Amino acid sequence: MANQIKGLVLAGGTGTRLRPITHTSAKQLVPLANKPILFYGLESLARAGVRDIAMIVGDTREEVQAAVGDGSRFGLNVEYIHQNKPLGLAHCVLMANDVLGDSDFIMYLGDNFIRDGVTEFVETFSKRADGTNAQILLAKVSDPHRFGVATLDSAGHVVSLVEKPKVPESDLALVGVYLFDQTIHEAVRAISPSGRGELEITDAIQWLISNGKKVRSHIVDGYWKDLGEPEALLEGNRLVLESIDRNIGGDVDEMSTIEGRVVVEPGAEITRSKIRGPAIIGEGTVVKDSFIGPFTSVAAGCTIEASEVEHSIVLSGSRISNIHRLEGSIIGKSAIVAKTERRPLANRLVVGDHSRIDLV
Ligand code: DAU
Repeated sequence: MANQIKGLVLAGGTGTRLRPITHTSAKQLVPLANKPILFYGLESLARAGVRDIAMIVGDTREEVQAAVGDGSRFGLNVEYIHQNKPLGLAHCVLMANDVLGDSDFIMYLGDNFIRDGVTEFVETFSKRADGTNAQILLAKVSDPHRFGVATLDSAGHVVSLVEKPKVPESDLALVGVYLFDQTIHEAVRAISPSGRGELEITDAIQWLISNGKKVRSHIVDGYWKDLGEPEALLEGNRLVLESIDRNIGGDVDEMSTIEGRVVVEPGAEITRSKIRGPAIIGEGTVVKDSFIGPFTSVAAGCTIEASEVEHSIVLSGSRISNIHRLEGSIIGKSAIVAKTERRPLANRLVVGDHSRIDLV
């Protein structure tokens, strides 16, 4: 198809914001319900019929490339573009200009999650006959000063866009998914770096508006992006778990109960335990004599024994043993949280950088 819409996926940056969880990984690879955030974006692009993807990668490129490969497992062709420094979202468009040519494209920020996908927006943009140059998505948020913020007129047209305003004029945040035609290439060349030294895509879209181009907006629900706080990660995990379907692939013994929408991945073993959905138990994980409560993701290769875990994320290879109740917790990879009988009876902690422990 000559005019097929292309994808520009941003998975660069330094990846230091969600410490300690992204201490060693790209933030786009942090899992929600046991799957990297980035994969949900790639799957939704594939579902929307996008095939050719240019992916911007930075310091964490080895991990991102190892995870995504050539994109064929998603039904995509992924070509990587290495950005030496995160010089801004509009800088990413500049870097991808050669690959994108004059095609329409969807730009997707790899750390954003949109529950309902992007199919509808891609279809509307592909079929437009009104000369729209850009389509932006907006979501109502409680903390607009952390986002690009849009002001609309009474007819719903975008009047202005400001990046992270101190005093936001509305609660409508720019969601990290944008559809553009080729005029955006002119816009990203026309703007200058912002106060934070980045070429802002928000300024480039404002340039389109100021220069009489047509920018449409659409308000979406079910939007999430990491805000660097552990609580926000738990909230993203909850949002994804809310829409999982029950699927019991592993072994569940007769003494266990599985309530509601629970995924037990192949190779997982549940013994004398209760799992209350929505929850997901990863491949090869062993749960025995335990309760796993709602809104909990346990990744692959973990052991949970004689413990209760609820509203939490447990990353791969970790062990939780004899813990009365863990709630609202994020346990990193290959961590051990266990009650001890060793004398002298005391809390013994080996805690990584930037960790947080709330003891009772
Ligand atoms: O998430 C939505 C927000 O994303 C919008 O509301 C803002 O208007 C937009 O500027 C952007 O704000 P952030 O400051 O949150 O973007 P961040 O620097 O976190 O970058 C977003 C993604 O793009 C992230 O996955 C890293 C990647 N990136 C970022 C920059 C600056 C790159 O690949 N290269 C870059 O140069």
